[in-house]
Amino acid sequence: MENLSCESDKGTVRIHDRSFRVMIPAAEIDRAVERVAAAVNRDYRDKQTPLFLGVLNGSFMFMSDLIKKVDFNCELSFVKLASYSGTSTTGKVQELIGLKNNIEGRHVVVVEDIVDTGESIEHLMRSLEGHRPASVEVCTLFFKPGSYRKQIPIKYRALEIGNEFIVGYGLDYNQLGRNLKDIYVVADE
Ligand code: IMP
Ligand code: MG
Repeated sequence: MENLSCESDKGTVRIHDRSFRVMIPAAEIDRAVERVAAAVNRDYRDKQTPLFLGVLNGSFMFMSDLIKKVDFNCELSFVKLASYSGTSTTGKVQELIGLKNNIEGRHVVVVEDIVDTGESIEHLMRSLEGHRPASVEVCTLFFKPGSYRKQIPIKYRALEIGNEFIVGYGLDYNQLGRNLKDIYVVADE
């Protein structure tokens, strides 16, 4: 069954039941990554081997482009947040999995695809702080200021958007669309 079709001439794609249109072309994403990389280079150049920690799956493409623009010696690793329904009344619980590095005393830059309500990043930052890093900052490709509800400072934000749902460049709609090189937004609402 065909569930992702591209009509590139019109700049639209169909994914599952929805239509999406190009919102941010690849060249514009690249310029935003360039800007955020310049800020990271300025702040981390003189620090002892920083560790870039990507949050899978969404951050893989951003991480790949970001790290190519980093001009100091650094390490790279990935973690995942596993969501499951907890037995408590608070409902959704997110557990950090895959942290293989000893981050004690290290300068860590968490690389995210998107920070929306901030629920995920708050869980992640709490888990990481328990490992006593020297510092942890967040570098996200997208930030939705209108829906962010947490206090964790999001130091590096490549692009800010409204509350619209986007796909492409690593971000998915029910697991599809991660391979698209541009960012698309829902077109049929
Ligand atoms: P938060 O916990 O509400 O900040 O949401 C973070 C996660 O929700 C992201 O890592 C994404 O997986 C997903 N998400 C939030 N907004 C979007 C979007 O516009 N497109 C695709 N995924 C999104
Ligand atoms: Mg994510």
